[in-house]
Amino acid sequence: MSLTPMMKQYLETKAQHPDALLMFRLGDFYELFMDDAVTAARALDITLTGRDAGSYGRVPMCGVPYHAAEQYIARLIDQGYSVAICEQMEDPKLAKGLVRREVVRVVTPGTHVQEGEAGPRYLASAVYRGGRWGTGVIDISTGEVWCAEYADEGPLADLFEQWRPSEVLVYEPAKEDAAYAWLRAWTEARQVRMTVRPEPRQPDAQQHQAVCEQYGVPNLVPLDLDGRPVAAEALGFGLTYVRETQRQLVAHLRPPRMLEREAFLVVDQTARRNLELVETQRTRQRRGSLLGLLDVTCTAMGARLLRRWVERPLVDVARIGERLDAVGALTGDALLRAQAREYLKRVFDLERLVGKVALGSATPRDLLALARSLSVLPDLCRLFTDSPSVLLRASAAGIPDLTELADRIQRALEDQPPATARDGGFIRAGFDPELDALRQISRDAKGWLAEFEQRERERTGIRSLKVGYNKVFGYYIEVSKANVHLVPDTYERRQTLTGAERYTLPELKEREEQILTAAERAVARELALFEALCQAVLDRLQDVQRAAEQVAVLDALSALATVSAEHGYVRPEVVEERGIYIRQGRHPVVEAAHPGRFVPNDAELGEGRDLLLITGPNMAGKSTYMRQVALIVLLAHIGCFVPAAEARIGLVDRIFTRIGASDDLGAGQSTFMVEMVELAQILRQASDRSLVLLDEIGRGTSTYDGMSIAEAVMEALQQPGRRPLTLFATHYHELTAKVDRLPAAANCSVAVQETAEGIVFLHTVVNRPADKSYGIQVARLAGIPPEVIARAEQLLAIREAAASDAGGGRETAATVAPREVPGEYEAAVVAEPKGPPKDGPVPLPLPLAGPLVDELLSRLAKVDVLRLTPLEAMQVLHELAEQAREVAAWGGSR
Ligand SMILES: Nc1ncnc2c1ncn2[C@@H]1O[C@H](COP(=O)(O)OP(=O)(O)O)[C@@H](O)[C@H]1O
Ligand SMILES: [Mg+2]
Repeated sequence: MSLTPMMKQYLETKAQHPDALLMFRLGDFYELFMDDAVTAARALDITLTGRDAGSYGRVPMCGVPYHAAEQYIARLIDQGYSVAICEQMEDPKLAKGLVRREVVRVVTPGTHVQEGEAGPRYLASAVYRGGRWGTGVIDISTGEVWCAEYADEGPLADLFEQWRPSEVLVYEPAKEDAAYAWLRAWTEARQVRMTVRPEPRQPDAQQHQAVCEQYGVPNLVPLDLDGRPVAAEALGFGLTYVRETQRQLVAHLRPPRMLEREAFLVVDQTARRNLELVETQRTRQRRGSLLGLLDVTCTAMGARLLRRWVERPLVDVARIGERLDAVGALTGDALLRAQAREYLKRVFDLERLVGKVALGSATPRDLLALARSLSVLPDLCRLFTDSPSVLLRASAAGIPDLTELADRIQRALEDQPPATARDGGFIRAGFDPELDALRQISRDAKGWLAEFEQRERERTGIRSLKVGYNKVFGYYIEVSKANVHLVPDTYERRQTLTGAERYTLPELKEREEQILTAAERAVARELALFEALCQAVLDRLQDVQRAAEQVAVLDALSALATVSAEHGYVRPEVVEERGIYIRQGRHPVVEAAHPGRFVPNDAELGEGRDLLLITGPNMAGKSTYMRQVALIVLLAHIGCFVPAAEARIGLVDRIFTRIGASDDLGAGQSTFMVEMVELAQILRQASDRSLVLLDEIGRGTSTYDGMSIAEAVMEALQQPGRRPLTLFATHYHELTAKVDRLPAAANCSVAVQETAEGIVFLHTVVNRPADKSYGIQVARLAGIPPEVIARAEQLLAIREAAASDAGGGRETAATVAPREVPGEYEAAVVAEPKGPPKDGPVPLPLPLAGPLVDELLSRLAKVDVLRLTPLEAMQVLHELAEQAREVAAWGGSR
């Protein structure tokens, strides 16, 4: 026995798409076979069955109904699979033998066009050639394209980190290739699909050719890509892949924008998560994030652009100023804002609609939505022609006049067209004479049929005679068995049923022909008219895209203005000079969640105050304060007003955050290891233009380890020439004593008030260190039973007594007293022991001094964190931690 012919066809097709799941159309289902079936059944949670394949015996099979296929495809894509769609290319009823089948498109994570509101999806290609990196980034649903070329992988890594492509495209490595290995590691760590394609014979020439073909240009010069051969190659690589998966030239892709020129404030994944920019950490919801607060946009385009602004803030004082001017013009004029938003609400997703037209998947409803949106634009533009804001004026002026196109579509289409074009019925009467004539014929024919039926009843005297229609026999005359004897000879019998006979007449046949062809021709005519409308849209493709882009800008700006006005934000002064000054700042999201209850706070960072050590008991508001400062800085870079009474923000190149392990609930792998790796990264990458937030670092390990690390990090962040603006929150408030010995650090704390009933959180930040840690008071507030609290107080008193006897003050009870030693930069070390400890009821694990301590500290002081790789840092840390444990053990046994 050999393979069944169908199975043979399947295997041949599958061989051409080894890295995609092949969905093979069989009648009303898409079927998957063998390994694909097993994978898909698991991924989609559908039943796995089997099918006889001939010599292969029974093979696994599963299937999804064709009309619901899109949702299943989307689920597979979300799980990182690619899907090849194989269709029947002829009508099975008409096919002789096996139906011809072809793969009509391949859906991949980077090229999947989703319906509805969803985050962006980017396909990124990466090429490493001649020591340089090139990348092309494509958003196929909106048609946006970017590319860049870099001399090393640092900026590329930043870009990928920030853009989060859904799919990364690379050449198959000829040998073990460092570039490939790096990308493989990057994609694997982030569970991003990596697609590997063989390198063409003449990679640069061929890919450059693909770029020129896509944009209809003779060479790379008009695209400004001539000086960027590697970027052009990467872009060509991406375009070739898009064409390969879509099986057509994709017309709506726009000319590439150069990414190296657009510099952004880098906010990497960790910081983005910690600051909850686009989703909350715990629930991963947009509500409760910064974007959730800011996004009161009216259009899908505006929402996408705003998200991009939030994820990639500007670092250019002039451009930020333009946005601030625009936001100012809109916040100052509530009526204008309301009108603009009224119009914007009537604009549908132009970018995706026009993308659907270009990809050939638009419906009459899509065209109508497009037209209705376009016809709103002139009114929208008029609002801004005299605006004092350059950006608003320019955006409005940049919207081309597309009313003619809009009118044409609206004249052509019914007000409520059907969901698909297939069956016609969407072109208005009176739009096209030929269509009207064809429709008239079908209509007349219906009247004729009624007349014909009446006539035949009278002629034959059969009152129950009726004319009917079915697909196999066409029109027929039906006569019940009882009346068959009355049927004239001219009737030709067609079909016998249990109770009736069916006949036809030459006259009826002739009309049938007319009726059916007229109806068919009417639908064909409608489809042709629809095609023409689509073509008309494509002729203005770039104009529609330009309009969409400007609408997005107007929408995003009016959203920022609306939020600024509603929450009483002020215009920040954004300047080149380094430093941050915020008077009466608020945390935008916390404030919005509890209106009226937020306590505003000042913040000042800059020369002489590069590092702020923030102390205060748990729940005082340290984390909130730090995030508030970062968010205000970020909002200013976005070009939004800020929640403060006054703010002057110097440009920042990068925001880093590290939240101590146990605070980082959303991470899943909140280990000390991750914390340290990220810390090492910060120490290596932060410049004096960066803003660094460190929240309770070192918390994931023992007190001595943790405190030593925290202290060493503070020192590292105070190196001359590379002193990022740093907010450093810690519960090791022993570190406050260290601050005076650092060149440009200051203490502050979140104040609490001690009352008879316990402490009250004031949430006010003051410029002095916390005077104690209030741990026991917080425990009381939290409802720890009074007898436990009382015992804790007792123990604390004993400890403090022991500590002061040992020479340490109250605040240094659990740590070591600082002393100066020479080092690369100032490093604090242990004080001499001031006499042996007295015998007390509670021995204190107090490593005051000794050879072990000296050794540990001198090793620590010698660590040049900036020169270490993350792995080396881990190693050093591990050793230091071991040593610190020895010290602790020694202290305890004394
Ligand atoms: N300035 C403020 N005004 C009002 N409530 C605040 C303020 N700062 C913090 N909070 C609230 O206090 C609680 C503790 O804040 P958090 O920043 O987590 O404290 P910490 O980091 O010091 O433990 C949170 O519920 C927060 O919403
Ligand atoms: Mg905290």
